[in-house]
Amino acid sequence: MAKLTLKDLDLKNKTVLVRADFNVPQDAALNITDDTRIRATIPTLKYILENGAKKLVLISHLGRPDGKPVEKYSLKPVAERLKELLGQDVLFLNDCVGSGIKKDIDSSKERVVLLENLRYHAEEEANEAGFARQLASLADVFVNDAFGTAHRAHASTEGVTHFLKSAAGFLLEKEIKYLGEAVRDPQKPFMVILGGAKVSDKIGVIENLLPKCDAIIIGGGMAYTFLKAQGKEIGNSKLEKDKLELAKLILEKASQLKKEILLPVDNVVVDKIDPNSKTEIVGENIPEGKIAVDIGPETIKLFQDKLKAAKTIVWNGPLGIFEMDAFSAGTAEVARFIAGLKAVTIIGGGDTAAAIAKFKLEDKMSHISTGGGASLEFLEGKTLPGIAALTDRPEGQ
Ligand code: 3PG
Repeated sequence: MAKLTLKDLDLKNKTVLVRADFNVPQDAALNITDDTRIRATIPTLKYILENGAKKLVLISHLGRPDGKPVEKYSLKPVAERLKELLGQDVLFLNDCVGSGIKKDIDSSKERVVLLENLRYHAEEEANEAGFARQLASLADVFVNDAFGTAHRAHASTEGVTHFLKSAAGFLLEKEIKYLGEAVRDPQKPFMVILGGAKVSDKIGVIENLLPKCDAIIIGGGMAYTFLKAQGKEIGNSKLEKDKLELAKLILEKASQLKKEILLPVDNVVVDKIDPNSKTEIVGENIPEGKIAVDIGPETIKLFQDKLKAAKTIVWNGPLGIFEMDAFSAGTAEVARFIAGLKAVTIIGGGDTAAAIAKFKLEDKMSHISTGGGASLEFLEGKTLPGIAALTDRPEGQ
């Protein structure tokens, strides 16, 4: 069922409650180290302000303060950043519910108000109806732009929709378009690149996408459980023993379905995971004591050769320890290669998005998700409660 989106709403003179995902990384001095999630929601906020809204009230969580105020999880630094990005004043209020909040919003001279971290109240994660009602009472209409939190059924993502007309913001709409529709009905050949440390994190994605795709390309730590399942030697590389049988089953299922699974044919190995360790290239069998930290040059070529025919590519999980420059070539070379293709390129959030940012390829991909857990659950084919709860678009519209 299609959901209402921002452009379906009449915003004139309305107070608009926007759930954003401002859960951004910060350093020890609480400086925001990556403001991607804040920038990603700016088009939604600007549209609301340019289309006659009386007030824009922003709500979000930051970190996991467990239902009580914890200073380091305050959203105050986000208010400062928002001020710069919107080019207008933002009033920051130090709570999100309570008697004075509505009065402060209504009487503020600023049109944009950011409320303090929702998770300072345990009722948020408990999806407590009274708390959701209090949030809803602050506004006339609700817009959810927090894709990163759409997999959580919390008061500010699910509960509040029971009390207000609720629409998807532009960011949420774009995430649904790429992660949902493009994956449901992809242009073929459709290829999936999976990496990251653990097979267990990607089982749901493999199960959902294997029947839909033409090939799955596997690198990163998770590849070595698959190589072991094929009877290869993996030295001291990452192994999930309890997932060996499952890896065998996945390989069998792929061959029954006539889907290709590509695994590393050579590897960058070290004795110890340390950025200064001496590296060596070995074949698909890894000598005793060695640890694979990246895919090797033959594998990069193999993966690129396969990918060049793709019309849709979904990528979730880096192909090596890209955070350390000496082990980043596999992830970087595959990223640069797909950036140059005409294919629709969809990048999962979290580590994969961080890798694309490190290689400065953000503008070269069709879509980079702002959700980590949320994008994974979406690719697993799950219904995300924050999306399901939005108001249905009337039939025929
Ligand atoms: C995220 O960063 O994945 C989202 O903001 C959700 O955060 P959470 O895992 O603490 O719910």
